[in-house]
Amino acid sequence: MLGKFITLEGIDGAGKSTNSLWLADMLRFKGINVINTREPGGTELGDKIRYLILENEMLSETETMLIFAARFEHFKKIIQPAIKNNIWVICDRFIDATYAYQGSGKGVSANLIKTLEDLLITNIVPDLTLLFDIPFDLMTQRISLIKKLDRFEKNNGIFFNKVRNSYLEIARNNPNRVKIIDSSRDLKHTQFCISGVMDNFLGSL
Ligand code: TMP
Repeated sequence: MLGKFITLEGIDGAGKSTNSLWLADMLRFKGINVINTREPGGTELGDKIRYLILENEMLSETETMLIFAARFEHFKKIIQPAIKNNIWVICDRFIDATYAYQGSGKGVSANLIKTLEDLLITNIVPDLTLLFDIPFDLMTQRISLIKKLDRFEKNNGIFFNKVRNSYLEIARNNPNRVKIIDSSRDLKHTQFCISGVMDNFLGSL
């Protein structure tokens, strides 16, 4: 039996991290063996690359290749082995984030991203992607309250609207895989939406 691969996506401050843990608990309660992980990161080396990317200025193509370097380690050493061992993986961001942030947000050619994806990340597509959707204004309100902003979070509304629209387009093009979660309301409402999607997903297995 193979584990399932669930990815969480959305602009910063949309509530992915909180709900990633909540979702894992919900699945464990149903008897499913599950791990939480995230990108960039997920391995010791990946976390070092994460720091490099978030804290240092660099060309967007360099950033894209570093993200894929971290992703390759993560995919080969954590994600793929877990899935092969019937462990479900909940991953906070994956390839959709690169199309949305580097591709649409920063103008990196989709060809470069697709080439890296095709060469490195073979035979895997998330079984389910939860897209946490909030408008930019709400994102800034939420994250400025909780933390010092990193290099990415300092981008402006034009950038984040491109990223958000790109995510929404990915959802339109992949309606079976990507489910939009309206996370502009309170946590209870967001989790109610996640439960609905998860009931359908589990029911379809
Ligand atoms: P996080 O705060 O959700 O952990 O993500 C850190 C930042 O990394 C976030 O601002 C989005 C960015 N990112 C990309 O730009 N491209 C990617 O492919 C991934 C995985 C993350």
